[in-house]
Amino acid sequence: MLQGKHILVGISGGIAAYKIPELIRLLKKAGAEVCVCTTRNALQFVTPLTLETLSNNRVYSDVFAPHNEHQTEHISLPDWADLMIIAPCTANVIGKMAAGIADDALNTTFLAMLKPVIVAPAMNDKMLQHPAVQRNLQTIREYPNVTVLDCDEGFLACGTQGKGRMQEPEDILQAADCLLEKKNMLGKRVLITAGPTQEKIDPVRYISNYSTGKMGYALARACMLRGAEVTLISGPSAEHFSGKTVRVTSAQEMLNAAVAEFVNADIAILCAAVADYRPEQTADKKIKRNGESMLLPLVPNADIAATLGKQKKSNQLLVGFALETDNEEQNAIEKMQRKNLDCIVLNSLQDKGAGFGCDTNKVTVFGADGRKTVLPLASKDEIASAIINLLAYPH
Ligand code: CTP
Repeated sequence: MLQGKHILVGISGGIAAYKIPELIRLLKKAGAEVCVCTTRNALQFVTPLTLETLSNNRVYSDVFAPHNEHQTEHISLPDWADLMIIAPCTANVIGKMAAGIADDALNTTFLAMLKPVIVAPAMNDKMLQHPAVQRNLQTIREYPNVTVLDCDEGFLACGTQGKGRMQEPEDILQAADCLLEKKNMLGKRVLITAGPTQEKIDPVRYISNYSTGKMGYALARACMLRGAEVTLISGPSAEHFSGKTVRVTSAQEMLNAAVAEFVNADIAILCAAVADYRPEQTADKKIKRNGESMLLPLVPNADIAATLGKQKKSNQLLVGFALETDNEEQNAIEKMQRKNLDCIVLNSLQDKGAGFGCDTNKVTVFGADGRKTVLPLASKDEIASAIINLLAYPH
């Protein structure tokens, strides 16, 4: 696993800091050497004694402490580390990271760390939703060495239910492992389509579907964590991806972007829920109600998967998704063959916790070679990881 790796754990002052001794223990168990750096507030939640006992190293929390070994720990620690994990990362520390402020041991060290950094935010759900925090998160996601983990949903320390929980130590360990050890898609160029498309009727109306893009974005993150060069072509979605993202609206725009990118791709994963039809005509002005029934003539959109299937070369891998309500298996396999896909992922609408908008999914993967793999209900990130493993990039 992380044998011999140097991991610098940065802790800021949130209640989830109580979980970090467990993270340090897991990192040590995986063979890593661990040093700890904290804000002053973090030490209100965990004691230096606990952290030093588990990490076997002195905790760095005060830039001017007389017992510092070098006086310049904020430089020597990033030099020493292969990876920094900031967990929990509070709204305050995220804000300072976004602004480049270095007024304590943790933020100063972060600024000197140009090697990979994993950030595990944790805060109250309302704080997480605040535009300032969202903007700061977006800023740090764009730093080339930073991977921001999503917050989990669930019970929060303030007694409410919502999104804002720090990812569990096991998940943070897995992200560290992926980042440092599992770069098994290095040099691979991956194209992913995600989200719905919107087909314009008039300036205020469109035809679309319930897709949120969560599955496609999870796939993009999983491929990037493995070192792939990812291009995500996304229809309208509230999700975020820190890699290259081409935002489109209509099926036609998605087709154009996908065809342009596919020539350079080793793998294309077509996860988007593309509208099959668009209005024959779009009105420039809002269509007024005249009280009578109306017909809206629709014309078919191009099938992006089938188009790429025709252009596919022998060294390219094409993966599709299918959402069926009846005859699921048979329809999915028929779709894979008709569109010349190498593999198709069948989404289930029958199972609780699977399908549109959920953070979990349950899928069955069919290969053109006849293989069938049923993946149990899991988070979309885990499903993404499992799908990629099946594409012959074993975990
Ligand atoms: N797809 C696509 N372009 C389209 C329609 C679908 O690229 N215009 C892709 C989807 O991204 C998915 C696969 O084709 O990977 C199957 O999509 P789905 O909507 O299930 O299939 P359709 O071909 O539209 O068939 P139907 O709606 O009749 O089930």
